[in-house]
Amino acid sequence: MNKIGIIGAMEIEVETLKSHMQITNTLEKASMTFLEGILNDIPVVIVRSGVGKVNAGICVQILSDVFHVTHVINTGVAGSLNAEINIGDIVVSTDALYHDVDATGFGYPVGEVPQLGTLSFAADAAMISQAKASCELVNPEIKVFEGRIVSGDQFISSPQVKDSILKNFPDSYCTEMEGAAIAHASWLNHIPFVIIRAISDKADDSAHMDYPAFEKAAAEHSARLVEHMISRL
Ligand code: ADE
Repeated sequence: MNKIGIIGAMEIEVETLKSHMQITNTLEKASMTFLEGILNDIPVVIVRSGVGKVNAGICVQILSDVFHVTHVINTGVAGSLNAEINIGDIVVSTDALYHDVDATGFGYPVGEVPQLGTLSFAADAAMISQAKASCELVNPEIKVFEGRIVSGDQFISSPQVKDSILKNFPDSYCTEMEGAAIAHASWLNHIPFVIIRAISDKADDSAHMDYPAFEKAAAEHSARLVEHMISRL
C-alpha cells in the first residue's frame, strides 16, 4: 500500500493540500507538524519542512523513519534558469543537485558531496511521467518541462549569481532551496521521489518583485498537479 510523503517548504505550498485531506493523526517533531491522513483516497503525510537544505533533509528522514512513506513528492515554487521557462510554467525534476557545494579542492566537481559517488540524484521515472501526465490534465493551459533542478541555501536574485550557476550547470531548468536535499535524503533511504516546482520568478534582479506577486498562483499550480497524481502512482 502506498503512503505518499508530500513536502512543501512554506505554508503557501501545502495549505490547499492540507485543507483537502482528512487528517487521522498529527505529529510534532523537529518543529515540523506532520499531518497523516487521506487525500484523494490515498494515504498521505503532508508537512511544511521550512526553508533550506537542513530542514528538507530532516523532514525526509522523519517521513522515512516514523511514517515509512513509500514515495516522496516535493511541491513548490522556483526561479527559472532557462529563458524558455516562464513564470507559471512547471518543472518536473529529472534529477536534482546542489549548486552551492564546493569540494573542488579535493578534486570533486562543483556540486558533488564527497564520497557519495554521485553528483545528482535521479528522480523516479514513473513519478516523472505521472507528474507530467497529471499536469497536462489538470493544468492544460500551463507548459510543463522535465529537467534538472538545482538547489542551494540562497534565494537567487542577481544575474551574476544566476550566470555563475549556469556556468557550472548549463542544463539547469530552475533553482530553489530544498529539492536536492529532499532528493539526497530520499536517495539515501531508497525512497522514490520527484520534485515538482512552478516558476514564481526568473532568479534575476526582478525576482524580489516577481516572487511575492506570483508565489501563490504558482504554488497552487504545483499542488493541484500533486493532488491528481498521487492516486495514479
Ligand atoms: N524559490 C523561488 N524562487 C527562487 C529563487 N529565485 N531562488 C531560490 N529559491 C527560489
